[in-house]
Amino acid sequence: MAKARTYYFCQECGYQSSSWLGRCPECGKWNTFVEEVVKSAVPAAKTATAVAKATPKRIQEVTYGEIKRIPTHCNEFDRVLGGGIVPGSLLLLGGEPGIGKSTLLLQTALAIHDRKLLYVSGEESEQQIKMRADRIGINTESCYVVSETVTQRIFEHIDAVQPDLLIVDSIQTVTTEDVESPAGSVSQIRQCTTEFQHYAKTTGVPVLLIGHITKDGTLAGPKVMEHIVDAVLQFEGDRNYGFRILRALKNRFGSTSEIGIFEMRGNGLSEVSNPSALLLSHRDEELSGTAVAATVEGARPMFVEVQSLVSTAVYGTPQRNANGFDTRRMNMLLAVLEKRCGFKLGAKDVFLNMAGGLRVSDPALDLAVACSILSSNVDIPISPRYCFAAEVGLSGEVRPVSRIENRVSEAARLGFEKIFISKYDSRNFEKNKYRIQIVEVSVIEEAFRNLFA
Ligand code: TYD
Ligand code: MG
Repeated sequence: MAKARTYYFCQECGYQSSSWLGRCPECGKWNTFVEEVVKSAVPAAKTATAVAKATPKRIQEVTYGEIKRIPTHCNEFDRVLGGGIVPGSLLLLGGEPGIGKSTLLLQTALAIHDRKLLYVSGEESEQQIKMRADRIGINTESCYVVSETVTQRIFEHIDAVQPDLLIVDSIQTVTTEDVESPAGSVSQIRQCTTEFQHYAKTTGVPVLLIGHITKDGTLAGPKVMEHIVDAVLQFEGDRNYGFRILRALKNRFGSTSEIGIFEMRGNGLSEVSNPSALLLSHRDEELSGTAVAATVEGARPMFVEVQSLVSTAVYGTPQRNANGFDTRRMNMLLAVLEKRCGFKLGAKDVFLNMAGGLRVSDPALDLAVACSILSSNVDIPISPRYCFAAEVGLSGEVRPVSRIENRVSEAARLGFEKIFISKYDSRNFEKNKYRIQIVEVSVIEEAFRNLFA
């Protein structure tokens, strides 16, 4: 029988201490230590022996066979993973409750019909999973489901089924008998993740874990989990809109800049391969405060509509609210506009919204954001046939952005009349090639004069 010991764990970062502490020396958070009983560190010893067997080699001598990734039969998911699931990898999918994590992975499980799958759920009963599967409506004979929360029992099921892929929904609900603290505590999560990692690495069966997210948007449980897994995927979106974005925050087998876009429908998630068509409202009437940004996410151009509303503040402190855009960045742009274009925006409420509820992090949004704010402020519409792609610097200079030719060609393809870009970008490609008028600006005032003078 293993010896039980009591430790205190920081619930934020997983720091371990033998006595209670008020403030975590690792992450600096207050009052986060919780007492947990740990029996013994069995897997730690296991990994130690595994490491001991290895001998150092010259890097040229290290060989590996061709990695055969498992395709998920979903282009958007594959794109984020970097072309399928790598054998023996451990993946973590995080997201807010109700965003569609279980739906995404169950759908993937049903779609991979050429391999045996085991879907373990600690949250839902088998009937509930079946109801969801019926809703998604894919028929398959190779997907096994079980409702189970104890890892030792899960491994018994694995022995019986011998799956090619394992899905665990969610890591916060499973417990191991080696640790006595409740499900979802730091030591439980860490221990269970380590057990699944050990299973994945020794058998080559990939494991997909679902993880909950806390209110402030970080993955619940210790940061250590993020270090253990090979890839951390985040599923996000505004629940009031149908769009969902899958991002890789960490990926040992691919890039983290690619995103996958889905739409939640009545029969599960469907892939959105041409997001621009959905995100633009195709309006004919001209409305002030709207500007289209030509952004790029990963390697894919994506056109988003930026909407803003500038109005006189009712209260002493003006409200600044941005939906889908960094509020600090918006405040910076407002300060630049105030200084360079002479607007008294300091006494105005400013609301900013990305149509479709998407969060885009491309710096090329800046110019569209600035122009939409100006448009709302002077109440003059910008033609829906114009789009923008440039970063705005602190002194009001319009700066070049990456992949400009991609953006211009996509804008021309979508039928835009004009694209506003930085003067310093236009040197990098041949402008006459595209059937679109390219407006080059070097400072924000120039864009303003061009649009509203
Ligand atoms: P779910 O996958 O349970 O979210 P999570 O596991 O992240 O908590 O998704 C739940 C939401 O998705 C729920 O509000 C219902 C909705 N939904 C659909 O709109 N269509 C569908 O086909 C399915 C299965 C769910
Ligand atoms: Mg769920």
